[in-house]
Parts: sequence; C-alpha cells; structure tokens
Amino acid sequence: MPERLFYFGTNFKMHQTPEVSARFYRDLAATVQPGDGVQRFMIPPVTSLAAVAAIARADDPDIWIGAQNMHWKDEGAFTGEISAPMLTALGADLVLLGHAERRRHALEQDAELNLKVLAGFRAGLRVLLCVGETAEERSYDVSEETVRRQLKIGLHGLEPADASRLLIGYEPVWSIGEGGTPASPEHVAPVVTAIRDCLRQVLGTAEEHVAVLYGGSVTPGNAAGFVTVPGIDGLFVGRSAWTVDGYHQTLQAGLRARNVGSRD
Ligand code: PGA
Repeated sequence: MPERLFYFGTNFKMHQTPEVSARFYRDLAATVQPGDGVQRFMIPPVTSLAAVAAIARADDPDIWIGAQNMHWKDEGAFTGEISAPMLTALGADLVLLGHAERRRHALEQDAELNLKVLAGFRAGLRVLLCVGETAEERSYDVSEETVRRQLKIGLHGLEPADASRLLIGYEPVWSIGEGGTPASPEHVAPVVTAIRDCLRQVLGTAEEHVAVLYGGSVTPGNAAGFVTVPGIDGLFVGRSAWTVDGYHQTLQAGLRARNVGSRD
C-alpha cells in the first residue's frame, strides 16, 4: 500500500502584507524536497493570495495556498464577503472553514459552515474544516460528542467522491493561540478515533481518503506526540510555523516521529 501523505500547514491569521507572504512562500519553497511525501500548505490573509499565487504559478513548488474563510453563496448582495469562485480565480487551492476564532468572533454555526463546505467543493477547492471542543465542553466530558455534532452537521450532504479533497483539523479550542494549553496525546487519541468513526458514518469507506490533522500550540518539542496518535495524517500549526525556520523545524520533528512510528 502506498504511504499516506503527511500534511503540514500554517494559518497566518490577520498577519502579513503581500510582500511578507510572498517572501515566506519563496523561502519555504526553497526547503521543499520533491518526493518527500509531504503536502505543505500555507494560509495567508486573502489580501496576500494573489501575490503568492503568482509565484506558485511560475515556480510550482507544490505548496497549496488557501484562504481563511469565504461566503457560501457564489455571488450576491453580501458586502465585504468573498466567494469560493473568487478564491479559485485568485489561485487558491484550499479554504479553511470553521476555525475556532471564526466560530468565536464571527459566531459561525455548524449549519452555516455546512453551506460553506458544499460551496467550496462545488468550486473545486479543497476544504479544511476545523472542529474542536471548548474548555467548558471538555469540563463536561463531551469532547467526542462535540466533534461528532460539528462533523455531522458540517459535512451534511457530502458526496463520498469529495472525501479526497477534505481535510479535518482537530483543534481543541482551549489549546489554541496565546494562552492556550497544549493538549496531551492521551486527550487527543480518543477524540481522533471518534472523528474517524464519524467520518465513516458520513462517507462510508471513502473515509480513508480524508486527512485528519491536529492543531493547537504545536511546537517542535511536542509535535512527535501528536503525529503518532493513530488516525492523524499531519499538523496544522500557528505560531511555531510563522517563520520559515520554525515551519521547517516543526515539520521535521513531526516527520521524524512519523517515520520512526511507521517502522514499528
Ligand atoms: P497555534 O494556533 O499553533 O498558535 O496554537 C493554531 C491555530 O490557531 O490553528
């Protein structure tokens, strides 16, 4: 059986000018070893996408670029919004949906995210849907129930044929960003099992084509523990990967652990 790809990406949130994003992308491209089994991606602010896509078109280093959000309608009277076809026209490969900061600050709900997921696939994008429980949900011991609900609603109506363009990011809300507490692999493992189980319910055997990534205060020091959780295909990293050096080191730490694990 061919080795599964390892996915590694970062979300720059509301940071970077187009110049900074383009420099990052160019410097990152220089670290890519073709055929290393890694699918890299970066998600800059939407204002940087055109600049990064221009380099991607010219050099084709096989690093996906993505947007941090979009609207579910293809067009219409939605001032300030951006649609999936607009993102593909800009050169985006991927759209991030349901990040915890959007759920919290923009009050995004699962049913609305479901419309966005379907719109993303319709436009030919890959979709990275984030799920994860809040600290309060964790305190009631409903982490697994929470991600199941988010997935069942968020992926409602999905076709099994879309599975190979779907990525799920498991990001416990309490572990993300400044002030986040890194989760333990012991906490992550049963939730990832629940995610895989739920994906099988929704997509049948096509579940195996879905990449499940872990994110939340991942560092070069703790990446190994998450990568070796069964069912995890990669890492979705914020702060630790905001320099090319940090990106490379966190990725390498994950890869080393994965290669050791797969020899066992
Ligand atoms: P962090 O961010 O790695 O800085 O915790 C993760 C995220 O927000 O997805």
